[in-house]
Amino acid sequence: MAKHTATAVGWGHHHFQKRWLLALLLMLSLSTIIAFLIRAAFDPCDRNIPADSGIVTARHAIQVAHKRASQIAAADPSPLLFMKSKVVLLVSHELSLSGGPLLLMELAFLLRGVGAEVFWITITKPSETDEVIYSLEHKMLDRGVQVLPAKGKEAIDTALKADLVVLNTAVAGKWLDAVLKEDVHRILPNVLWWIHEMRGHYFKLDYVKHLPFVAGAMIDSHVTAEYWRNRTRERLKIKMPETYVVHLGNSKELMQVAEDNVAKRVLREHVRESLGVHTEDVLFALINSVSRGKGQDLFLRSFYEALQLIKEKKMKVPPLHAVIVGSDMSAQTKFETELRDYVMQKKIQDRVHFVNKTLTVAPYLAAIDVLVQNSQARGECFGRITIEAMAFQLPVLGTAAGGTTEIVVNGTTGLLHPVGKEGVTPLAKNIVKLATHVERRLTIGKRGYERVKERFLEKHMAERIAGVLKEVLSKSKDKPRGHLF
Ligand SMILES: *[C@@H]1O[C@H](CO)[C@@H](O)[C@H](O)[C@H]1NC(C)=O
Ligand SMILES: *[C@@H]1O[C@H](CO)[C@@H](O)[C@H](O)[C@H]1NC(C)=O
Ligand SMILES: *[C@@H]1O[C@H](CO)[C@@H](O)[C@H](O)[C@H]1NC(C)=O
Repeated sequence: MAKHTATAVGWGHHHFQKRWLLALLLMLSLSTIIAFLIRAAFDPCDRNIPADSGIVTARHAIQVAHKRASQIAAADPSPLLFMKSKVVLLVSHELSLSGGPLLLMELAFLLRGVGAEVFWITITKPSETDEVIYSLEHKMLDRGVQVLPAKGKEAIDTALKADLVVLNTAVAGKWLDAVLKEDVHRILPNVLWWIHEMRGHYFKLDYVKHLPFVAGAMIDSHVTAEYWRNRTRERLKIKMPETYVVHLGNSKELMQVAEDNVAKRVLREHVRESLGVHTEDVLFALINSVSRGKGQDLFLRSFYEALQLIKEKKMKVPPLHAVIVGSDMSAQTKFETELRDYVMQKKIQDRVHFVNKTLTVAPYLAAIDVLVQNSQARGECFGRITIEAMAFQLPVLGTAAGGTTEIVVNGTTGLLHPVGKEGVTPLAKNIVKLATHVERRLTIGKRGYERVKERFLEKHMAERIAGVLKEVLSKSKDKPRGHLF
């Protein structure tokens, strides 16, 4: 990246803003999607600009934050140090820029960071070359992760010699029989199964029949673990192995942006301008893939009801806006059409905005005032966007379901409402509450941030994972391999 020699930056100055915005967006898109992959691309400290020179630029601020983060990292030994020189095989059902694989990659780099020998297998790959897979594999190779073909002698040999095999998501279970065949039972005592889902179709014996015999299962929330216990027992008549709940944490890169007021302000102005939302307007967002399960339809109903309430009671509040981030108009689903029809029918087009799905959520988190987490039925398995929003000091209006109930403290870091139609009016009232009580809104946001700093950072996740790995390793040591049956 070219060195910039700005000596003064006026933020009202359009040219500067544009230029820095470009640099920022570039960095952000990288830093929030695959940031941990490109750490090396950043110059961690820019010695030409002393931190106290009074020159504040977004890039500089980010560099300072990086420097600080790396100093902290150096002073703070990883809880995973005991994994040094251990052989770890990570088995991913796919390789893409989606939650599951990216999380496993974060683990790969944490383990590489402490000197573990890390191997990676992707079970399902498209036959033609895929740019995303190619680039992710190369990032891994650059960081010393050894990428193996899913099948064949090398895969089997590595699985047999590994101190630990991590299977990522329920579907990864297919790989065990397909590849390991008669060796499968020698490997099970060293398998840790990381599960991130709770939809019915994962409860297939085909996927999970070996689950009772692995060293442990690691699940993102207590409710999800409970659900797996129930369903495996009642539907499949199998018993869960030792199960560990590991709440996720925010990446260092997300935290750096969240704690960078200058970067946030630039992003806020830019995104609001692009949506046509004024500085003083109150912006509510639902950031999730658009589908009935994520509850965008019910959110819009609540939002409309909130607008009606404000009008009826002649409340003095700035204009309210809603943004739905996660649309996929190329898919043109019935549900997408239904949402847009509703907006037209209620004539709230100027208040509701649709944004295509994106992996770069930071600009939206910087731009909004409240995150709505409206996932229905059993809710989110964890819902990483919730802790990401809290890092940006945003209050959360969430359904009282799934992982959300373990993240959001009702009344303190957010307000919960019931799932389903019963939740529409409570959510509408909560929307009005946060729109009218600015102080309360800001306080709730701050408390959310404090909660993230206490328990939802990468280092907390690493500590929790370290605890699990220690137990799993000590257990598999006690069990001589191949004597299980
Ligand atoms: C699990 O089953 C118990 C008893 O059948 C029930 O009370 C509980 O709500 C269930 N939990 C989940 C998450 O399904
Ligand atoms: C959103 O996606 C649609 C369909 O893929 C595309 O036509 C449109 O240009 C996209 N909008 C933006 C702002 O990128
Ligand atoms: C959240 O708190 C509000 C206000 O105290 C209460 O009315 C509501 O029932 C609570 N919801 C849940 C799910 O705890």
